[in-house]
Amino acid sequence: MVEWTEQERSIINGIFANLDYDDVGAKALCRCLIVYPWTQRYFGAFGNLYNAEAIKTNPNIAAHGVKILHGLDRAVKNMDNIKATYAELSVLHSEKLHVDPDNFKLLSDCLTIVIAARLGNSFTPETQAAWQKFLAVVVSALGRQYH
Ligand code: HEM
Repeated sequence: MVEWTEQERSIINGIFANLDYDDVGAKALCRCLIVYPWTQRYFGAFGNLYNAEAIKTNPNIAAHGVKILHGLDRAVKNMDNIKATYAELSVLHSEKLHVDPDNFKLLSDCLTIVIAARLGNSFTPETQAAWQKFLAVVVSALGRQYH
């Protein structure tokens, strides 16, 4: 089981309490689709992803970015039980969507960059450490049901 210090818990809760879901969700998913274009293959039903501009203005992508962040809310609310919290979502991504689990890490790195850019000086080393630990646990939990 993953142990969290009070400081880590308060950092993670603080980030989500002040999060602009619309902006951060859309930017993180767009960045992932642009920087790692092979991730676009899973979003064929989302309409035009023809170039970076099309990705950035695609409303389905923006909405899905927000959905992903709300997916992360579940981990924040269940920090002591992230693995079980994501069991179903892991099965969905693996068995139904066939998302290569390496992509979870790519998306989480894009999310870190977007959060860091928004937080500026308050993205301290302690904040970065807690945030990346949180995402690593999420990525591991989402990859659990792959076999
Ligand atoms: C769907 C969360 C990473 C592709 C979803 C849903 C959530 C979610 C909450 C909606 C599930 C539902 O409708 O019941 C997350 C989280 C991720 C993550 C928390 C990592 C931090 C990824 C990655 C990809 C991906 C990296 C592909 C590169 C998809 C697709 C859908 C989906 C294609 C279905 C979209 C649709 O047709 O509506 N994800 N996801 N996800 N996810 Fe993820």
